Amino acid sequence: MKTGAPSPAALAPEHVRALHAYTPGLQPAEPGWVKLNTNENPYPPSPRVEEAIRRELGDVLRLYPDPRSTKLRKAFARLHGLQEANVIVGNGSDDVLNLLVRAFAGGGGNVGFTLPSYSLYPVLVAIEHGRSRVIEFDRQMTLPVEALSEIAAPVLFLTSPNAPTGVGFPIAEIESLAGAFHGLLVVDEAYADFARENAMGLVARHPRVVVTRTLSKSHGLAGLRVGFAAAHPDVIDLLDRVRDSYNVNRLSQAGGLAALEDAAYTADVVRRVVATRERTREVFDGLGWFTYPSATNFLFTEPRTRDGRTGPEIARGCYEFLLSRKVLVRHFGSHALTAGFLRITVGTDSQMHTLAEALQSWLNHA
Ligand SMILES: Cc1ncc(COP(=O)(O)O)c(C=O)c1O
Repeated sequence: MKTGAPSPAALAPEHVRALHAYTPGLQPAEPGWVKLNTNENPYPPSPRVEEAIRRELGDVLRLYPDPRSTKLRKAFARLHGLQEANVIVGNGSDDVLNLLVRAFAGGGGNVGFTLPSYSLYPVLVAIEHGRSRVIEFDRQMTLPVEALSEIAAPVLFLTSPNAPTGVGFPIAEIESLAGAFHGLLVVDEAYADFARENAMGLVARHPRVVVTRTLSKSHGLAGLRVGFAAAHPDVIDLLDRVRDSYNVNRLSQAGGLAALEDAAYTADVVRRVVATRERTREVFDGLGWFTYPSATNFLFTEPRTRDGRTGPEIARGCYEFLLSRKVLVRHFGSHALTAGFLRITVGTDSQMHTLAEALQSWLNHA
């Protein structure tokens, strides 16, 4: 290197050098963990997924995949009473969320979202050198429709059901927000299959509503990376212009299609997860812990010691105790509304039994 020449990192724009990457939940390499920290499904995907992926292995891997994931678009559209032109497929819904920020707020635009909500949004905004416009919930977690509708931004992300709280918002309220907000309302429905209602019906009625979905949760395919957005064809057209040309690989397209088509299997898995969720909720209720009503595959609960102490230190202590017992949950310590809580993914009944036993031991120590 010539003296005085800049280091390679110094060549990047300042906003890139200042970036903090999204912090994913821990993925321990060694076995033996009860892993309840990243809202994965405890059950395997439909057996048809493996069959479809096997069929795709071999000579065709020489060939590029369908750049538009056409079969997946068609199947998703059919499932939701939409047209192929209403659908785009992504490498997970994170890809789709990224495309939305890139297309509608790229080059430094404003993006609205709530706090707490999915912590990827501010990262995507920072990548585009954009500005986050944030509305905070209060402890009730009711949707602040008026404050949200007044945000001046081309895009507003609403996680519903919300993460990490698990709270689902009434569709009537989401629809009134859609009517009042002047930008694109993106309803991130990663967990919608575990909820009683969803916003998909708004897409046909509201040209500025986008609904995103994923196969990572209810379909047990977090490792395959398949997500969707449903929206007005003009929105989809713009997203198509900014995406990678081959954003979903062959194996993901084949496996994703098989999963979507096995709706009965998914419905059965969802029923089991929801039943375990409600049983686990009763365990927390029995301990006298406050838990938000969950419309997802996780519970957001406030650990309470036997003598009634709660708060960030208690939640962190409980998290660490569970960690020492190889039970992995998630603690979001950086926000006042989340720091006193733990987010616990719904696992199998046996995993939740292990969790309950570990919590009893913690209560004896705390
Ligand atoms: C609210 C929300 N949206 C999107 C995602 C990302 O899903 P995917 O695996 O499809 O990228 C997650 C994952 O945890 C999530 O919690």
